[in-house]
Amino acid sequence: MTREEALESIKTSVDNENLIKHMLATEAIMRVLAKQLGEDEEEWGLAGLLHDIDVELTRGDMQTHSKLGADLVRELGASEAIVHAILCHNEAHGTPRETMLDKALFCVDPLTGLITAAALVRPDKKLASLEASSVIKKFKQKGFAAGANRQQIAQCSEVGVELEQFIELGLVAMQAIAADLGL
Ligand SMILES: [Fe+2]
Repeated sequence: MTREEALESIKTSVDNENLIKHMLATEAIMRVLAKQLGEDEEEWGLAGLLHDIDVELTRGDMQTHSKLGADLVRELGASEAIVHAILCHNEAHGTPRETMLDKALFCVDPLTGLITAAALVRPDKKLASLEASSVIKKFKQKGFAAGANRQQIAQCSEVGVELEQFIELGLVAMQAIAADLGL
């Protein structure tokens, strides 16, 4: 499965532009993280890009979200490693996260929301001028972007990356595709 095919597939299944941007941001961070850890950049990128393909199809039902997604991406030809990572990024199914890819997707997913929210409260609403130290401060403010699950982000320790470094890496990754994200 190529990146282009994956992008086509999510555009077919998802109307919400912000959801597509979230998947692009997740892809970007997954690629940078894979590179840093000496993992498969293509595979990790695809997992990020595809992971929420079923959100509109399941209408936010957490009991089916990511199960349908896993089935869909398998039919599209994604690897079993990607299928598993997508399945267990939703904790509702109780599927344990086993591989580095599983663990990475889980902690990267909510990081995009925290960084996006931190950019949007800046006067220029841009990622370019946002500093990692500012995102780290926002991480510690529980009321800020409360939907970005802090415990889940902190699971970056499971892939051997320190929180500060993880946030910085996520910011750099998203800054590199700022135009696509409209930020
Ligand atoms: Fe997500």
